[in-house]
Amino acid sequence: MCGIVGYIGKRSAQPIILGALKRLEYRGYDSCGFAVLSNGKIEVFKERGSIDELEKALSGVNVGGTVGVGHTRWATHGEPSRRNAHPHTDCKGDIAVVHNGIIENFQHLRETLAAEGHVFRSDTDTEVVAHLVERYYNGNLEEAVRRALHEVKGSYALAILHKADEKIVAARSRSPLVLGVGDSEFFVASDVPALLEHTNRVVHLEDGDLVIITREGFRIENGGNVVPRKMETVLWSIEDAERGGYEHFMLKEIHETPRVIENTLATHLRDGVLGGVDLDLDVPQSSEILMVACGTSFHAALVGKYVIEELASVPVRVELASEFNYATTPLSRETLVVGITQSGETADTLSALKRAKAAGCATLAITNVLGSSVTRLADRIIYTRAGPEICVAATKTFTAQLITLYLLALHFSSIELAERQKMLKELRRLPTAVQRVLDAEDEIKEVSGRITSYENVFFIGRGISFPVALEGALKLKEISYIHAEGYAAGELKHGPFALLTEETPVVAVVAPDRTYDIMLNNIKEVKARKPPVIAVADEHDEEIEKYVDFVIRTSHVEPIFSAITNSVALQLLAYYAAKERGCEIDKPRNLAKSVTVE
Ligand code: M6R
Repeated sequence: MCGIVGYIGKRSAQPIILGALKRLEYRGYDSCGFAVLSNGKIEVFKERGSIDELEKALSGVNVGGTVGVGHTRWATHGEPSRRNAHPHTDCKGDIAVVHNGIIENFQHLRETLAAEGHVFRSDTDTEVVAHLVERYYNGNLEEAVRRALHEVKGSYALAILHKADEKIVAARSRSPLVLGVGDSEFFVASDVPALLEHTNRVVHLEDGDLVIITREGFRIENGGNVVPRKMETVLWSIEDAERGGYEHFMLKEIHETPRVIENTLATHLRDGVLGGVDLDLDVPQSSEILMVACGTSFHAALVGKYVIEELASVPVRVELASEFNYATTPLSRETLVVGITQSGETADTLSALKRAKAAGCATLAITNVLGSSVTRLADRIIYTRAGPEICVAATKTFTAQLITLYLLALHFSSIELAERQKMLKELRRLPTAVQRVLDAEDEIKEVSGRITSYENVFFIGRGISFPVALEGALKLKEISYIHAEGYAAGELKHGPFALLTEETPVVAVVAPDRTYDIMLNNIKEVKARKPPVIAVADEHDEEIEKYVDFVIRTSHVEPIFSAITNSVALQLLAYYAAKERGCEIDKPRNLAKSVTVE
């Protein structure tokens, strides 16, 4: 996690770096800092907390300088504090380093460097890089960095300054890093939104790349050779990465869902293509699909399992990537392994795909981020078209993943043409259906008031609504800090019933499908234990209100698509509960959007 930036050009570096860091805060926000080269000196400023706090501490002072690096942190080594905030410097303060990733052999390096007389001033792994560069610096920064990196094991996106050189040396290995190309100015950053205000021309750096950037241009090396890298034009606009009048990114991003569905469908649906779906993929000969993912993407995979098995009759196994990486389950070469990751940078998901490749499996990635690490790893890529998602809690990207999985299911499916056309028609209706859920936002807001005073909430569902319940619980817990558990509705009586009282509301996700009657039975069993029950149910469901205390109505869609409308309703429920509890919605405590450590 963490976000890094670097700037070199003719403008004052400090405001550019601070602005860029604000756009990277979703990657970590427990402390931050920047360094600029000013009058032949490296000036470093750091603060515990957010960029706003750093700006407050600076009280309007601009230290000048047109070259600088900055960092926003999600602590891995050493508590969040000013002392552990980046940039880190060498003994003399001549070198400044910002880093995203983990230096795995830092302990050994630190001991060796300390024995040589280097004095450490933080508990971080990163500081060893500054001292290693110091050890090798002999008037040529890139050479010193090359030699330092030779000794480093682990993951990194690094940007490094030396007081004697008007340049930035940056390097990438298993942590994202993008180079931004402006007019006589250059940027590096962990992610594209940090650059969009200044340029949309980017180069996605690859593992092993070292880039030397001056005001005159840049040179990318890999393994000692200069390498060409493609310059791309980013289609996201700066408005996409801004709040646009909404109080929080989360609310804005939920409201973007109809457009996201339209964009994702427009990208992958084509007239005249087999069955309308154009994923540029062979129908797998595989006897099985394995999906690997984490967090919300894992829940999307669980919905995908349901949909693919239903429509394409291909068995689908879903594994948490973090568990899969340490499991001994045999992996057949015939298995198609699908990694789902909106950021394309989740370390566990990347490792799972590497394991699958090593076993000879075909791999497919579903991701939202062009040029992300997963796009270089998997054999095939399907992009979701959600645009940048800034709020740490995933919302629109989850919906885009679901849309992609419906398309994948239809792609693999051999259902009759008429049935297929009906499904495609329903998919095309989804933006309108979701818009109607959004239009009923005030009712959801009112219902959210029924859970905000409780400390524990259960979410239950069956069939396709089970992963929807899991995701509803994750959303609520991560942004409102209410303890929430998602359960298969039939499982509650196998233990969790012991926890049910008037003080444990239960949110029941009810789809009008073959699980409907048994779900009503489960709700009755719950009600008999006194918890308040809130149902999320189809607008045409006339039965449900007899059994529950409150109903959130969602637009009528074919039951298999209820995962979309119901999830959006649960996202709004979580949002308004968190808002009423006064939580920091876009940046929940202890979290970061992209989890680049295992
Ligand atoms: O970028 P990814 O989809 O791989 O991220 C996976 C999880 O880290 C992510 O979904 C996380 O659970 C979010 N906080 C969910 O809102």
